[in-house]
Amino acid sequence: FLFVQKAGVWVSIDPLVLEEQLLWVSGGQGQVNTFRIPLLTFTPQGSLLAFSEGRKKSASDTGAKFIAMRRSTDRGYTWSPTAFIVDDGQQPDGLNLGSVVVDEEFGSIILVYSVCFHEYQCKPSSTMMVQSLDDGLSWSKPRNLSTQLGVKAFAPGPGFGIQKRYEPAKGRLVVCGHGTLEGDGVFCILSDDHGKSWYNGAALKSIPYNQPKKSQDFNPDECQPLELSDGSIVINVRNQNNYHCKCRVIVHSYDGGLTLPIDYVRFDYELIDPVVAAGALEKDEVIYFTNPLNQVHRVNLTLRWSLDHGKSWEKKAVQIWPGPSAYSCLTSLKSGSGEDRRYIYVIYEKGHKNYDETVSFVKIHLYGGL
Ligand SMILES: *[C@@H]1O[C@H](CO)[C@@H](O)[C@H](O)[C@H]1NC(C)=O
Ligand SMILES: *[C@@H]1O[C@H](CO)[C@@H](O)[C@H](O)[C@H]1NC(C)=O
Repeated sequence: FLFVQKAGVWVSIDPLVLEEQLLWVSGGQGQVNTFRIPLLTFTPQGSLLAFSEGRKKSASDTGAKFIAMRRSTDRGYTWSPTAFIVDDGQQPDGLNLGSVVVDEEFGSIILVYSVCFHEYQCKPSSTMMVQSLDDGLSWSKPRNLSTQLGVKAFAPGPGFGIQKRYEPAKGRLVVCGHGTLEGDGVFCILSDDHGKSWYNGAALKSIPYNQPKKSQDFNPDECQPLELSDGSIVINVRNQNNYHCKCRVIVHSYDGGLTLPIDYVRFDYELIDPVVAAGALEKDEVIYFTNPLNQVHRVNLTLRWSLDHGKSWEKKAVQIWPGPSAYSCLTSLKSGSGEDRRYIYVIYEKGHKNYDETVSFVKIHLYGGL
């Protein structure tokens, strides 16, 4: 699996940044002060969808926001104008993204997000969902999943959720996220009927749970799940209080997201991290990972890859942007065509002085442009 055949020659993974374009610029014109929290997904029909929070008045995590979306039907070469697919009005603690999950069996795209997550001048916190049945062109009205899940504060992602491709629980939708600072931890919500009904799955709670944290407490936070070809789920997690290391926490589920046993929690010392939401993707048995490769500062967005399911990482890495950079998300197209096997796509927060100046999209050729 280390190689693909190209015109009769075997070539190995050697990622090359081919093109980059800014999808959103903060502080400009219009109704948005700051764009943050980028998400990227494939669709069943082979399009790419990019999402971000359009923060109306300031860069703050609270405040009123839009969910901004752009769509590309030509592998990221051109993009539709921005559509605001959700508008929370004037709420003091509006919406927060979020996790996008594609139901390939059903042909739908589901976006799960929170409102009033910080309970700032509002109560309670709710988990919401919108859905598209037409490749991202139109979106349903927001649906309140807290009527099924309860009103616990839950911030999905940021990143993508997964549909299980293998047993156990083939077809299940798995969306993972984190709680509020005191009641933090990694939690997954599950749906076995294409997003009609949802229930609470795995929980890996912070220690001490529901109490204020100190530096170096165990506080697993924003996270990105992946499925491996043995049917297990691996979740790559932000280590909020630097427990044990300034690196990523790796969590496993062997029962389709019902449990995250503490026995299978480990720390990936190779993946040093400045406490941020990172990108991770499994494609053709290779795991890709993006984050600002620095123990302290959100700078130097870098792509790494692993040929042994995340046990170790290749020495070579590809620097995407040396300057300020923070949250990132990865995707790839799934048609199985030679073309779609050769690329992955990255979206990330990028700036010159501050990482929240723009949201940028990058197309990466996995085989050195060959
Ligand atoms: C969602 O439902 C919960 C439980 O019924 C309710 O408490 C909450 O206010 C609802 N949230 C929204 C935004 O409607
Ligand atoms: C930035 O990342 C590259 C790999 O992309 C690494 O070689 C380099 O040492 C990093 N620089 C800093 C200043 O962290």
